Amino acid sequence: MEQEFAEGIDSWETMMFLYNSALKEVNTKLEILNDEFVHIHNYNPIEYIKSRIKTPESIVKKLKKGGYESTIENMVTYVKDIAGIRIVCSFTSDIYRLAEMIGRQNDLTVISVKDYMKHPKASGYKSYHMIVSVPIFLSNKVVDTKVEIQIRTIAMDFWASLEHKIYYKFEGNAPEYISRDLRECAGIVGQLDAKMLSLNEAILEAKEKQEH
Ligand code: GTP
Ligand code: MG
Repeated sequence: MEQEFAEGIDSWETMMFLYNSALKEVNTKLEILNDEFVHIHNYNPIEYIKSRIKTPESIVKKLKKGGYESTIENMVTYVKDIAGIRIVCSFTSDIYRLAEMIGRQNDLTVISVKDYMKHPKASGYKSYHMIVSVPIFLSNKVVDTKVEIQIRTIAMDFWASLEHKIYYKFEGNAPEYISRDLRECAGIVGQLDAKMLSLNEAILEAKEKQEH
């Protein structure tokens, strides 16, 4: 598959090395932010983090879909989610808190943001997406490398993984009643997230009162 890239295997491997390094950098940053939050507020905004590198097959597929030739240059320019990190939180409030903390990191550049929580997709999909660029310091140069960060709640993640499986099973042509049920489930996920958030706030408030 890598052979499809005209510039050859050397630069393919260099690119994969850069994307892997970028994932390490961003993962470490997120761990530090989470640890600091635990240290100060005694609270863990991140439940878990998953990261992945896009497979050569899906990089080629995405380039083809966009009408681009499979070259390293096109891949770097047009495929912004080769390195991807998914942060899963308990509450919707954690999502904005984390997004803000990420945005304040001086050595990260936020290239774009898509707020599918405020504006869910037609499928019902909700998440907060950021494309960031992180400098990778090599021995003789610095290379800015893109990483896609998706932030969502456990409930949104549950929905998205089921929807993803169904999408693949039907190759994007799921029967209408299934898409409708999924949209309905997305609504329920929204209600659950809102209820869990207000419940958590009520718990914190009640505890505060007890302690004073
Ligand atoms: P992609 O070409 O799919 O990467 O989309 P894009 O460049 O338009 O970016 P967008 O922010 O819309 O989506 C990026 C990623 O979000 C996807 O690769 C999926 O991981 C996830 N995503 C977006 N829409 C959906 C959806 O409807 N369902 C699920 N399960 N995931 C989605
Ligand atoms: Mg993608």
